[in-house]
Amino acid sequence: MSTSLSTLLRQMPKAELHIHIEGSLEPELIFALAVRNGVTLAYDSVESLRRAYAFTDLQSFLDIYYAGASVLLTEQDFFDMTWAYLLRAAADNVRRTEIFFDPQTHIARGVTFATAIDGIDRALQQGNTELGISSGLIMCFLRHLSEDEALQTLEQALPHRHQFIGVGLDSSERGHPPEKFARVFARCREMGLHLVAHAGEEGPPEYIGTALDLLHVERIDHGVRCLEDPALVRRLAQEQVPLTVCPLSNVKLRVFDSMADHNLPALLDAGLLVTVNSDDPAYFGGCLGDNFVALFDALPLQREHAQQLARNSFQAAFLDSECKQRYLDEVAAFFKSPTGT
Ligand code: HPA
Ligand code: ZN
Repeated sequence: MSTSLSTLLRQMPKAELHIHIEGSLEPELIFALAVRNGVTLAYDSVESLRRAYAFTDLQSFLDIYYAGASVLLTEQDFFDMTWAYLLRAAADNVRRTEIFFDPQTHIARGVTFATAIDGIDRALQQGNTELGISSGLIMCFLRHLSEDEALQTLEQALPHRHQFIGVGLDSSERGHPPEKFARVFARCREMGLHLVAHAGEEGPPEYIGTALDLLHVERIDHGVRCLEDPALVRRLAQEQVPLTVCPLSNVKLRVFDSMADHNLPALLDAGLLVTVNSDDPAYFGGCLGDNFVALFDALPLQREHAQQLARNSFQAAFLDSECKQRYLDEVAAFFKSPTGT
C-alpha cells in the first residue's frame, strides 16, 4: 500500500464505536497494575503473557481477557487504562469514541460499580477537554451469565445513569441468544438508553434478526455472518442498521482465515452501513488506525472506501444530527485538504 494511503487512513477523522475498554489493557500496563495492587498473575513476564495471545476462537480469548482484567482494583486503575487508550485514539485522530465496559467482570471480584465507572468517566471527561475526543460509555451485560444477574447489574447502575449512554451484550455468543436478555433490554429501552448487541460474530445470522426484533437494538456489533442470509442483508441495507466490524479481531479469533478473506468489501458492496473498529486492541494486534491499514493492505479498497468508512463511523454514532453534521463536514474538509488528497 502507498504511504500516502496509510497516512490518510491514520489521519482521517473517525469515530470508534466498538472498543471494550478492558481489551485496551496492554500487557505492560497489566503487569504494572499487578505490581501496584499485589495481584499475582499466572504469567511471569510481559513476554509470556503476550505469547499466550494465540487464540483459536472467541472463548479462548475471553479466558485470557478476563484474567487480564483481574488487575483492575482502584478508581485510578480504571482511569489509567482509559487514559492510555485515549492517548492512542488521539494519535489515530479518533474524534468520537463509544466505549464498552463490563461491570460484572469487576463486581464479581468485589470492585464496586462506582469504582469502575468513576475511573473510566474521569478519563473520558479529561479526554474531552484535553484531547478534544467526545465520548459515550456503553455498559455491557455478560451473556454467559443469567438475565437476573444482568437485571441486578442494571439496579446497581441506576445511580450512575448520567454516566453512560447505552447498554450492550458481549462475551460468549454461541448458546446465549439475544432473547435470553429480552426483559432487561425492555427495561433499558424504557429508560431511554441506547441499545446495541454483539451478534453474528461466531453466532448464527439468526441472532442478528432476533437482536433487532426482540431487543430492538440500534446497531449490531460485528454482524459479519449476515452474508449467510440474503434476506437479512436486504433488511440491514434497507434499514441502514450500522454494523461495527472489527477486522483484526475477526482474523485473530478465526472468524476469517486471513485478512484477504474478510468480507468487509462485500458488506460495503451490499450497501450496508459498515464501520471499522478495534474491539480489543491490546489483544488483537492493533488500534483503530492499524485495523484500517491491515484491511486496506490486504483487500482492494481505495481512498473512496476510506472516506465512506470515515463518514459511516459518524453516521452510526449516537450523536444528535447537528453534531453528526459537524463531524461529517470535518471528514469532507479533510478529504479536500492536501493531506487528504
Ligand atoms: N466478542 C464478545 N465479547 C467480547 C469481545 C468480543 O469480541 N471482546 C470483549 N468481550
Ligand atoms: Zn466486541
